[in-house]
Amino acid sequence: MKLEEIRAAEARLLLSTYERSPLLFVGGEGVYIFDENGDRYLDLLSGIGVNALGYGHPAIVETIARQSRALIHTSNLYYHEGQAELAMRLTERTGLDRVFFTNSGTEAWEGALKLARAYAGLRRSESAKIGTKFLALEQSFHGRTFGSMSTTYKEKYREPFGPVVPGVEFVRFNDVEDLRAKFSSEVCAILVEAIQGEGGVRPLTQEFFAGARELASSTGALLIVDEIQAGMGRTGKWCAYQHFGIQPDVTTVAKPLAGGLPLGAVLCTEEVARAMHAGMHGTTFGGGPLACAVGIATIDTMEKEGLLAHATEVGNYFQDCLRALAARHEAIVDVRGKGLMVAAELDSAELAKLTVAEMLKRRILINCTSDTVLRFLPPYILERNHVDGAIGALDEIFAEHGAAHSAPAGGGHHG
Ligand SMILES: Cc1ncc(COP(=O)(O)O)c(C=O)c1O
Repeated sequence: MKLEEIRAAEARLLLSTYERSPLLFVGGEGVYIFDENGDRYLDLLSGIGVNALGYGHPAIVETIARQSRALIHTSNLYYHEGQAELAMRLTERTGLDRVFFTNSGTEAWEGALKLARAYAGLRRSESAKIGTKFLALEQSFHGRTFGSMSTTYKEKYREPFGPVVPGVEFVRFNDVEDLRAKFSSEVCAILVEAIQGEGGVRPLTQEFFAGARELASSTGALLIVDEIQAGMGRTGKWCAYQHFGIQPDVTTVAKPLAGGLPLGAVLCTEEVARAMHAGMHGTTFGGGPLACAVGIATIDTMEKEGLLAHATEVGNYFQDCLRALAARHEAIVDVRGKGLMVAAELDSAELAKLTVAEMLKRRILINCTSDTVLRFLPPYILERNHVDGAIGALDEIFAEHGAAHSAPAGGGHHG
């Protein structure tokens, strides 16, 4: 089918949950993805932070070929070779002790929430005074299933599906006083992203993160860090919390974990793992042989190719270039990020939307989050010359459209 036929068929057949760009992709190589006409696009979004090794990496392609010939699925009723091997790699790199594998980010987050409630129940049975409440952060994003959605801040994600899961309160982002005021022995877990992704690539302050750790530890509540977007090397460390020197009780990873195959994981300490017993939680597909084999290959390749250090180096270069651009274009009001999780905040939602569209015309994929924030989540194999190409395109776009679409001076952010 051609693009137009596919569009018509999807419009008739699919739930209308996505506003897709009218592009039909059929292949990819390295940092480029190809449409059906053979036109190539520089992909600075990598499938929303998934394709860490880019497209067609031999380590992934060969592992899929080999493992799919051997075994694709077994269920979790039996052993296969992949889970223990991958769990070893993940526990070593996160500093946590035990793993449960899932199919997606949101499923990992659901597992984290269930762990927190189960652990609080266990502690109550041991006479501890601890409640069932979750403290989540304003602007947080944790996924679309019920628990994840209920701990996600934006009203538009929750409101159509109410009532949401009860027992969630939101704390003002990076506001230690608000956190202290809302924290009590009723709280079973504090939920954070070390660097908020959908919320606009916003890092926690050291003070807030340390305060959350200290408060949680003071009552035996859990500190749960969602690393689904920032984790697995994207920021130059395996987990973004490692930049802060703070260790959570529970964390979740997904997106780049299996180089494009659906795989997520929730990890926890030995202490928290006491709360889970056979039959309490499970999944049919999670942690299957194919996804695990590719997960192992992905981590080993990142290590072999030095991609964490590379992400730091190219990411710093990217931010430096964006700052130089900001010095020339007033429309860019902030540049931030870590490693290859990079953002440029504009002073207008209209301009941000237009920039994404103009970049697309120049065959460069980026996206916009939190209305005014241009977000870059490229593959870790990105090189400086790719950054130069993107910066040149942005320069052109802002020169042409920046002033016209910018907010008036002092107008602040809108949209
Ligand atoms: C921080 C964070 N948590 C959870 C999720 C949900 O992951 P998934 O879309 O795989 O369910 C996302 C997805 O964007 C995310 O960025």
